[in-house]
Amino acid sequence: MKGIILSGGKGTRLYPMTKGVSKQLLPIYDKPLIYYPLSILILASIRDILIISTPGDIHLYERLLGDGNRLGMKFTYKVQDTPRGLADAFILGEEFIGTDSVCLILGDNVFYGQDMTKMLQQTMQNKTGATIFGYPVKDARNFGVVEFDDDYRVISIEEKPSNPKSNYAVPGLYFYDNRVVQIAKNIQPSPRGEIEITAVNNVYLEMGELHVTLLGRGMAWLDTGTPSNMLKAAQFVEAVQHRQGFYISCIEEIAWRRGFISTRQLINLGKELQMTDYGQYLLSLATEV
Ligand code: DAU
Repeated sequence: MKGIILSGGKGTRLYPMTKGVSKQLLPIYDKPLIYYPLSILILASIRDILIISTPGDIHLYERLLGDGNRLGMKFTYKVQDTPRGLADAFILGEEFIGTDSVCLILGDNVFYGQDMTKMLQQTMQNKTGATIFGYPVKDARNFGVVEFDDDYRVISIEEKPSNPKSNYAVPGLYFYDNRVVQIAKNIQPSPRGEIEITAVNNVYLEMGELHVTLLGRGMAWLDTGTPSNMLKAAQFVEAVQHRQGFYISCIEEIAWRRGFISTRQLINLGKELQMTDYGQYLLSLATEV
């Protein structure tokens, strides 16, 4: 399975913070926002990842993450000229995806929870169709919203409905079989002018091949859409890391635990950052074994 991180967009809702730099490079506490979605793909043991961003920002991602070799992974980069919509990820990614299945994660989505690995492993056992998630929120109007019947069968998915038919929002993490590329190519722009991921999901729903997994209260899906929510997300990360001593979304740690890099490589990565708590944390992991 291949992974795509969609990390472009104009970020206008966060101006002036994002006037000079891409939103997904801004920090959430001690690491760039993109580390959080990237860590989810590594947790899922996906090693081959395409990062999509704007013409002005793509080189910043390349500088930050390189070719992935240091993490035992492979990163490829692609420019999206204009934010045409989330489904554009599969059109831009056609060659990269090849004949594989693909997981798309949005570069500004932060997930954290104990069952994450188990949930990802179960999802990846679905070999055909699409899998999306449902997460209860107080106000679902700003999201894709999934509606169920009494037996939790999906009836509809709507993009940003003014009257949501449920309180289950669809987070920015999606798994698809290879047909998604052709499906994306046939999506017509919505009234807001975007080729919507919700339209892709509706095609799978009509084919009877859409799986929806509900995420429970033990899972955190944090909003990073406003300055206040970014601060709250940072405070959440700081609180958990400080209390437990475990880092959230430490990409080097997860790559090491997944066996992508050796303990020797982990130590080298730690030494490069040893003037920071982050680097000291990497070095402390190596003494675990
Ligand atoms: O976060 C989950 C939500 O993401 C879903 O519930 C919605 O169904 C889905 O449409 C999406 O809604 P948003 O309004 O939050 O999407 P937004 O336009 O903010 O884009 C999400 C991220 O993707 C953002 O970091 C910018 C990036 N992006 C967006 C577009 C449209 C791109 O890189 N390229 C694009 O063309």
